[in-house]
Amino acid sequence: MSKLPIGILISGRGSNMQALVNACAADDYPARVALVISNKADAAGLVWAQAKGIATAVIAHGDFPTRETFDAAMTERLEQAGVKLVCLAGFMRLLTPGFVEHWQNRLINIHPSLLPAFKGLHTHEAALKAGVKEHGCTVHLVTAELDSGPILAQASVPVLEGDTPETLAARVLEQEHRIYPEALKTLIETANRPV
Ligand code: GRF
Repeated sequence: MSKLPIGILISGRGSNMQALVNACAADDYPARVALVISNKADAAGLVWAQAKGIATAVIAHGDFPTRETFDAAMTERLEQAGVKLVCLAGFMRLLTPGFVEHWQNRLINIHPSLLPAFKGLHTHEAALKAGVKEHGCTVHLVTAELDSGPILAQASVPVLEGDTPETLAARVLEQEHRIYPEALKTLIETANRPV
């Protein structure tokens, strides 16, 4: 089968990137990873991707005078690699409207909360503080407004007595690794697939 070339943007550990790469290894999965970009040279995920033989690039945001030029450099690199769809996986930079528009409907993110609850950072702390009984994660299309695009998939987990941000994060992360590849697969198979 022909697989859609995807790009993955990371800034750190890259465990969601690993989940996507592992899913792509299956013959019947509709995507392949054409490029992993990190804005940080020391991102642990880069080492893992390189060991898997995946093309990687470091595009350091500090090397660019503006957000626009940084984002344009990423788009250029992604297009050079033939990327048709971009997955954000712990990418810790705000994207410009120009980047979001360029990749409109072809740019997805995983966020560690049940959106629209707990946008932004420190979601597990916020969930514990709010006293919610259910928490979780969301895969969504990226739009100009942070953590606000159309929802593609969600999974919830219980918040347990005695949870810390760390124990809760670990329970959510397990679900992230399950729903991110699933949501990507569904998106590719149901969307008007770019060629
Ligand atoms: C994940 O919790 C993801 O939902 C959030 O940032 C974290 C990244 O973890 N956007 P990893 O780099 O994928 O391990």
